[in-house]
Amino acid sequence: MTSNFEQLESELQAAIAAAGDLVSLEDVRVTALGKKGRISELMKGLGELPPEERKSFGQAVNGLKERVGAALNERKDALHKAEMTARLGSEQSDITLPPRPGPLAEGRIHPVSQVMDEITEIFADMGFAIAEGPDIETDYHNFTALNIPDEHPARQEHDTFYFNEKEDGSRAVLRTHTSPVQIRTMLGSKPPLRIIAPGRVYRCDSDQTHTPMFHQVEGLVIDEVTHMGHLKWVLESFAKAFFEVDEVKMRFRASHFPFTEPSMEVDIGYAKVGDEIRIGEGDQWLEILGCGMVHPNVLRHVGYDPDKVQGFAFGVGIDRIAMLKYGMPDLRAFFGADLRWLKHYGFGVLDVPTLARGISS
Ligand code: DAH
Repeated sequence: MTSNFEQLESELQAAIAAAGDLVSLEDVRVTALGKKGRISELMKGLGELPPEERKSFGQAVNGLKERVGAALNERKDALHKAEMTARLGSEQSDITLPPRPGPLAEGRIHPVSQVMDEITEIFADMGFAIAEGPDIETDYHNFTALNIPDEHPARQEHDTFYFNEKEDGSRAVLRTHTSPVQIRTMLGSKPPLRIIAPGRVYRCDSDQTHTPMFHQVEGLVIDEVTHMGHLKWVLESFAKAFFEVDEVKMRFRASHFPFTEPSMEVDIGYAKVGDEIRIGEGDQWLEILGCGMVHPNVLRHVGYDPDKVQGFAFGVGIDRIAMLKYGMPDLRAFFGADLRWLKHYGFGVLDVPTLARGISS
């Protein structure tokens, strides 16, 4: 019996070693271990043996099964690797070829998406994390916690879209700015913080430079030492990277926001030469953002101690800086869903902005 086993084993091992590809190896597996395979057939003889021989016979068959199974697996791995190596050696793709005609080549990234990607790339490089909040906000997050109490005139200035009053008298709003994400972030984590929050905002307003929905990016830095010099540096570095110029002209004007003290509005200098807009030259100014040092009342609202921590915040109009950078004159066209406009102003799907390769190329 033993020699039969030995012979069967060496036959099977030889067949495994000789199998030149995965298909012939599978044939060997079926011959050995398939339902009617030679090892399975052996088991059928078990019942005819005298009881005292059954145990050792069973063990011998199982041992054989295991060794043959292991040899099959090993051979399978080796054949698999060899097949892959052969494929890698013979197949080539030229990654410098343009994409084939079709959705990948035809599709366009909307300038707002592109500009959002550019902005996150720049701030991520400065160590900012990305935060998010809901478009439908509570009155508390959108106003009260930002130091805009009930009768504050800033509430009227925001042209808020209100939802119907709930039974408890509260009314949700479509967020009028991304500033409530400051509140949500601070409520959800401890300082130090360094975040930006890009997203959609809503105001009941519409003309060539205003649409009922538009985009902002909020910035917030809170720690024990950050001061206005840091704010200025961050905004200048951002503007240079975003507009891809070595020097920018920026004008910081004293202003008022309830959630910052002191507060500033920032204009960017540009020249219009023919149809072209040149950033960093000329004497025209466009307001692009509001900023300031976070108001102590805001810090108190989120349970921070204004005697221990401080920092700055800013809110940039994304659509505005997109219009300025890419020379798009009418904001309403952004949301007109006109494919001709998108084809003209949109970006290739594969043109992912990176600082290393050029932010808009
Ligand atoms: N939330 C303001 C707005 O929509 C913009 C703004 C101004 C945001 C100053 C800020 C800030 O974070 O510090 O008009």
